[in-house]
Amino acid sequence: MSKAHFGLIGLGVMGENLVLNAERNGFSSVVYNRTFAKTEEFLNGRAKGKNIEGAIDLKEFVEKLDRPRRILMMVKAGNPIDAVIKQISPYLEQGDLLIDGGNSLYSDTERRVSELEKQSFGYIGMGVSGGAKGAYEGPSMMPGGTRSSYDQIESLLQKMAAQVDDGPCVTYIGPGGSGHFVKTVHNGIEYGIEQILSEAYDLMKRGSGDSCKEIAELFAYWNSTEELSSYLVEITQQCLLTKDPLDNTDLVENIMDKAGQKGTGLWTVVSALKLGAAVPTIYASLNARVLSSMKSNRIRAEKILSNPKDGNLEFFKDSQFREYLTDAVVLSTISSYAQGIDILQLASKEHNYDLNMQSIAQIWKGGCIIRSTLLKRIQEAYNNNGSLISLLLDPWFSAQINRRLKGLSLIVSNAALAGIPVPCLSSTLDYLNSYRTSRLPQNLVQAMRDCFGSHGYERLDKEGSFHTDWID
Ligand code: 6PG
Repeated sequence: MSKAHFGLIGLGVMGENLVLNAERNGFSSVVYNRTFAKTEEFLNGRAKGKNIEGAIDLKEFVEKLDRPRRILMMVKAGNPIDAVIKQISPYLEQGDLLIDGGNSLYSDTERRVSELEKQSFGYIGMGVSGGAKGAYEGPSMMPGGTRSSYDQIESLLQKMAAQVDDGPCVTYIGPGGSGHFVKTVHNGIEYGIEQILSEAYDLMKRGSGDSCKEIAELFAYWNSTEELSSYLVEITQQCLLTKDPLDNTDLVENIMDKAGQKGTGLWTVVSALKLGAAVPTIYASLNARVLSSMKSNRIRAEKILSNPKDGNLEFFKDSQFREYLTDAVVLSTISSYAQGIDILQLASKEHNYDLNMQSIAQIWKGGCIIRSTLLKRIQEAYNNNGSLISLLLDPWFSAQINRRLKGLSLIVSNAALAGIPVPCLSSTLDYLNSYRTSRLPQNLVQAMRDCFGSHGYERLDKEGSFHTDWID
């Protein structure tokens, strides 16, 4: 009997869909799951009649695979990945390749690549984005590790990936943990955009008094524009229109307002802070989730801390409100991408990843959660100028900022007066206002630091480090 081309460990939702995708693209497969009952259920269900077989243990699994073996692990990030590597290693042979397709911490991947390569096995840490549907139909994939390992799976991944106008949504990202690093930052951008769209919904609901249907209409319009057409805008519109099967009311209104997180947003922000990247919009989205989860505190606080209510809600009913809101959402979305790219640029230098922004924008154009038409512009920006210091300074993006900053300012100031929190929109406004200001007040911070701690300061008019005895 001929051996299978591709192996999958972990029959969760993503694993099942990815192996069905591989099989549909001509790669006969073998699957292994910790509990064999799950494997049997899959083989008798979705995999029935397909070129997919099961294995009862890892020894049988490895034996059923063609050499060099190509094995995708879709198991929980963290210790479970190390456990699988430990269990399967005794059966592997030189040149076999393990791929971790989960949301692993990039530094764990870095360690695994070097440990496995010492044993002459290949190891790829691969970010996979697109959810269950994307995994089946074609995800965006971000594989990192040694180039020769990637070459072994390139044709498989290119067939499995989402396809866009200029090719498949997969490319070799770089060495070590770079694939998982890029996926982490993808998720940070995802957090930002999700929060931005939620703030827009809140302003329309609480400010203008719009219904979910009316809000969905604006989202539908946004999804038809070059600046905002995207997967997240599209699904938000669908979420807003979905009725609760229990009582036919708007389902979103019956959902608890506490947002969970699995870690990648936090890792994005921690990495950004360590690398010295300013990511206020993304950071605000993370804080917003944290604050949202303090539901009982918020219920208590609402009874004690009052809303100044000086705000004139007329602003939210004005015919221009929706245009200003569009400005705010466009600039905040652009800022999320710009901040994510800044993290990637700094990480690329720090870890010698040699990341190519143009290619990363290309593979994010299809399949993944942050896919949008804006990514075409981002791709063009880095195509035109590979050493662009910030996306904000590309001519198309800077024109957007100059045109829309007033709208964003009006939204943030009126939201503040009305007491409606807009953490991502307001952080974006401060980010853009800071970024476009050549003279910031940190001269005074420097003076204070030197005053109490003799930390020294630089001067504008001459080189060197200076100290002043500020107090007699
Ligand atoms: C994707 C998603 C996916 C998952 C994240 C969300 O690209 O397909 O990013 O990986 O949805 O884990 O993370 P949170 O649960 O932290 O929101």
